[in-house]
Amino acid sequence: MKTKLTVTLGLGLVAAAAWAGPVEDQIRSRQSAYGFLGWNTAKIKAQAVDHPETFDKDQVIAAANAVAAVANSGLLGLYGPGTDQGTGWKPTRLKSEYFEKPADVKEIDDSFIKEANELQKIAASGDVGAIKEQFGKVSKTCKSCHDLVRIRE
Ligand code: HEC
Repeated sequence: MKTKLTVTLGLGLVAAAAWAGPVEDQIRSRQSAYGFLGWNTAKIKAQAVDHPETFDKDQVIAAANAVAAVANSGLLGLYGPGTDQGTGWKPTRLKSEYFEKPADVKEIDDSFIKEANELQKIAASGDVGAIKEQFGKVSKTCKSCHDLVRIRE
């Protein structure tokens, strides 16, 4: 019984490690994911907030779909042990304090996912005012996380 349990646990650990990947891969994927989020949110900001005269419903829907997909992809799986040190595309900006407050980050990430899902729904309506308002809520969750665990440049 004991041996079987050990074997099962052992396999579980191997599977988890294989899924998360080496530290550098996790950091690189994390930086890619957030960089891609930045590209999409910049489009929404430009078209729904700063220059509503350029609003293109299809582009904003595509961007909101991308943001929601990335938000729902399980990004916290890329915050494995040791990923506060190392280089992906560039040296990581994850603060080591992350490992003291994973629950706080999880809470922020949950609201990021919730607001991103809502933005996806509202984008489909093509209502620029409503998109602008919901975009503000999404952006607040980005900022909360950055203030808490991202090293300032
Ligand atoms: C759960 C926390 C969290 C949330 C939510 C979050 N970020 Fe970040 N973001 C980070 C961390 C941590 C980094 C640094 C990653 C690294 O260097 O390893 C980062 C990096 C970035 C970068 C720089 C990427 C690069 O390396 O070039 C951009 C751009 C960015 N985030 C945009 C956003 C936007 C836009 C949102 C919301 C739509 C968002 N982030 C939501 C934690 C978060």
